[in-house]
Amino acid sequence: MATAKFKEASPYVKPKPSPPAEDYIYDKYIKDLALKTDNQQESVVRVALFGVGRAGTIHLTNILSNTRSEILYIVDDVESNWPNMRQRWRLDNVTFLTSKQSAKVFKDPKVDAVVVASPTYTHEEIVIKALEAKKAVFCEKPIAENISDTVKCYEIAKKSGQPLFCAFNRRFDPSYSNVRDRVRNGEVGHIHTIKTVSRDSPLPTVDYLKMSGGIFHDCIVHDIDMVTWVLGEYPDKVSVLADANVPEIKAIDDFDTIGIVMHFPSGTIGMIDISRNSTYGYDQRLEVFGPKGMVKAENEQPTFVHQYDLHGVSTAPIWYSFASRFMNGYRREFDHFLDIIHGKAESSVKAKEILAVSKIATACEESARTGKVVNLKWVANELPENN
Ligand SMILES: NC(=O)c1ccc[n+]([C@@H]2O[C@H](COP(=O)([O-])OP(=O)(O)OC[C@H]3O[C@@H](n4cnc5c(N)ncnc54)[C@H](O)[C@@H]3O)[C@@H](O)[C@H]2O)c1
Repeated sequence: MATAKFKEASPYVKPKPSPPAEDYIYDKYIKDLALKTDNQQESVVRVALFGVGRAGTIHLTNILSNTRSEILYIVDDVESNWPNMRQRWRLDNVTFLTSKQSAKVFKDPKVDAVVVASPTYTHEEIVIKALEAKKAVFCEKPIAENISDTVKCYEIAKKSGQPLFCAFNRRFDPSYSNVRDRVRNGEVGHIHTIKTVSRDSPLPTVDYLKMSGGIFHDCIVHDIDMVTWVLGEYPDKVSVLADANVPEIKAIDDFDTIGIVMHFPSGTIGMIDISRNSTYGYDQRLEVFGPKGMVKAENEQPTFVHQYDLHGVSTAPIWYSFASRFMNGYRREFDHFLDIIHGKAESSVKAKEILAVSKIATACEESARTGKVVNLKWVANELPENN
C-alpha cells in the first residue's frame, strides 16, 4: 500500500492539537464546559429597550439570551403589540410603557442601561435623557440626525461619565473583523484598494425610508465606517454618482443605487457599491487589495449543501437579511457593551470615528447631489489617534 509509509502514531500518544483561534464559538463552549466563573463577580445589567421593530427585536433576543443582562422595561408606542410581545418572549416581569410614559425609566435607579432602537429622529432625545439620568447607552446608528447634535450627545456622555456606544454591528462580525486584523498585521501590505458591496434585502417599506434620514446616513454610514475602520485613515476626496431606480424612492428624493469612490491621503482608493434592493438576498462583501495580495470576506450562506443535477451545481441562497447575516455581530456588540459597563473594555467605537463617518456621509451626499468631487478638510484633533 503506497500510503502505508505515512502512517502515524496513535493520536492518543501525540500532543493534543489546539483548536483554531478562529473558532470563537468553540472557545466560548470550552469556557462554559470548564464552568469559568469570572462573570459571577459581575452584577447583572438591567436594561430598558426603546423600540421593538426590525432592529429592536434583534436586541431584545440578545438581551434575553445573555446571562449578563436582564430586561426591566420596554418602551414602544404600538400598545396593541404589547400582549403578543409579552407572550412570545415570556416577559411577565417586564413593564411596558409608551414613549410619553418613559420618564419612569429615567427615574428608576434599578435601570443601568438604555438600548435605543427606535426611529432615528427619536434617538437624540432618548440618548440625552438617559445619559443625564446616569444610564449607560447603547444606541442604534446614527446617534443623532446631524453632526452638531451627535457632538452634543457625546459631550453629555462625557459630562455624565456614562458610555455612549454607537452600534456599528458590522465591526463585530467575525469575518469582517478578521479582514481588519489581517490588514493590520500587514498581510496585504499598504492597501491600494478597498471595496465594499452592500445591497440591502428585503427592500424596506416606504414609511421606513421616509423617516430613515436618507440612504447616506441610514445605510452608507456602515460602509464608510467599515472602510475607515479597516484602513485607519480618512478620505480627503469623495466622488459619488447616485440614482433611484425605484419610483417610490425617487418620489421621496432619496437614492437606491450608488457608486462611491474615495481617495485617501496615503494613496488608497476606496469604493462602495450600494443598492437598497437586492432580490437575491443581503449581499455583503468586503475586499482589500495590496502589493502582498488580497483579503476578502465573502457572502455567507445558511447551509453549505451542494445539489448536483444536469443543470449544474446549486447551493443555498445567501442570508436573506441583516437579522440573519449579522446575527453574530449583534450578539458580540452587545457583549462588548456589557464589558464597557463593567470596565472590562473601552468602547471600540469612538466618538471621533462616529463624527468622522457622519462628515464623510454628508460629503458623499453633497457629491451625489451636485455631481462634483467633494474635498474633505480635517482640522487638528478632529480625527481619532492611534488608529
Ligand atoms: N444596525 C443595523 O443593522 C440596523 C438595522 C435596522 C435598523 N437600524 C436602526 O435602528 C433604528 C430603528 O429602525 P427599525 O428598522 O428597527 O425601525 P422600525 O420602524 O422597524 O421600529 C421602530 C420601533 O420603534 C417604535 N417607536 C417609535 N417611536 C418611539 C419612541 N419615541 N420611543 C420608543 N419606541 C418608539 C416603533 O413603534 C417601532 O416599533 C433606526 O435608527 C435604524 O437606523 C439599524
